[in-house]
Amino acid sequence: MKNKNKTVWSNRFKSKTSQSFQKIGSSIHIDKRLYEQDIAASIVHTQMLSKQKIIKSEDANKIINGLKKIKVKIDKGNFEFKEKFEDIHLNIEKALFDIIGPSAGYMHTARSRNDQVVTDFKLWIKDASKEILKDISLVMKNLLKKAEKNTDTVMPGLTHLKNAQPISFAHYLLSYFEMLKRDKKRFENNLNLLDECPLGSAALSGTSYKIDRTYTAKKLGFKKPTDNSIDSVSDRDFAIDFLYASAVCAMHLSRLAEDFIIYNSDAFKLISFKDSMLTGSSIMPQKKNPDPAELIRGKVGINYGKLNAILTIMKGLPMSYFKDMQDDKELVFSGFDTLKDTLTMSAELINSVYANKSNMLFMANQGHTTATDFADYLVKNKNLSFRESYSISAKLVNFAEKNEKLLSELSLEEVKKFYKNLDKSVLKVFDVKNSMNMKKSHGGTSIINVKSMIKKYKKEI
Ligand code: ARG
Repeated sequence: MKNKNKTVWSNRFKSKTSQSFQKIGSSIHIDKRLYEQDIAASIVHTQMLSKQKIIKSEDANKIINGLKKIKVKIDKGNFEFKEKFEDIHLNIEKALFDIIGPSAGYMHTARSRNDQVVTDFKLWIKDASKEILKDISLVMKNLLKKAEKNTDTVMPGLTHLKNAQPISFAHYLLSYFEMLKRDKKRFENNLNLLDECPLGSAALSGTSYKIDRTYTAKKLGFKKPTDNSIDSVSDRDFAIDFLYASAVCAMHLSRLAEDFIIYNSDAFKLISFKDSMLTGSSIMPQKKNPDPAELIRGKVGINYGKLNAILTIMKGLPMSYFKDMQDDKELVFSGFDTLKDTLTMSAELINSVYANKSNMLFMANQGHTTATDFADYLVKNKNLSFRESYSISAKLVNFAEKNEKLLSELSLEEVKKFYKNLDKSVLKVFDVKNSMNMKKSHGGTSIINVKSMIKKYKKEI
């Protein structure tokens, strides 16, 4: 009973831990999220110690049963986490002593919290990355569904937020499909890089016990053990990569949200949302505001913050373990939670969006968006260089602008003022849908291209 409240190092210390240090030093309120990974790793470590005859099998069995009991307790919410025992590792070890007595003392042979925490954290990030991959796939599926319905929906493609060239709404949506595809690869890449088990590196130098690190690594689902014990306990690249991949993905979603906010604005009116994705105003009865999109746009700030924080914590940290690194988990957990919410919201938002097709078509016609098509026509049919054709087309645009006409409203006579030798076949180039469908180059916006891309994407997902 006397030992119950003592820290594992109490015999070495003359005074009690300061209260303020206990508050800042304890991470249990954060790293209790690692309990499943911590218990799984401790069970495998114990099995390895027993297999290698480093500890007795009776003790190993007691430890494993005790750990399983602790897991059930935590699962059910019946476990009391104590700030005074600092972190998840010591909370579980203490509880094990309470359940099985002195045999618990054999569990921490040939390991340290330094390799333990990295192992738990890597296992956690593996699971978290797989969840994120699933969530990204859902967003991609919804983009694909929306795109399928809009391969012939013409909208203005913008550069500098100015009307540039006609594109399909589908092609626009699928540009985000590509971004998310790369995001998935970033998470997958990290999963490959982190696939080495640090457990058994002990404090920093390895251990003199005859442990079997390959056994531990394989049983925990890693490809192999890490090769340098110092790097093992000091490495947080996998957390940084996770937060970087999260930040980039959140940035993509932020751009999509911003597009949607602009397209939905009263100035653009290109898209609408279902009411379930809108909020009202407390004073203006007419308002319907796209708050979910605004939140998606803003959340990336949190993801950037977490990435910046971990990079700063790691900067200039000498070898090997330092307590500075303890804060890595809060950053990753919160980065994960934020991105997960953002992805879920984005998937729903995409489902709820619909194109205001007539406005899109109207807007695609504004701003002389087929001027390039006219230049291309002259290059292809009149043997002019692109620069010559460009300047003829520029003059035509000046004329249309001055006369307040769309390019498609010009008569053949008017067009011929700028290049004599033309017949009425030229007028077709001013049609925005025709313009869109002429873009048959690989990756272009023509219906035929986009339809074949959708077919390809469907197989990928
Ligand atoms: N809670 C600690 C962390 O997350 C575990 C490692 C503690 N190691 C130590 N030498 N104090 O970093």
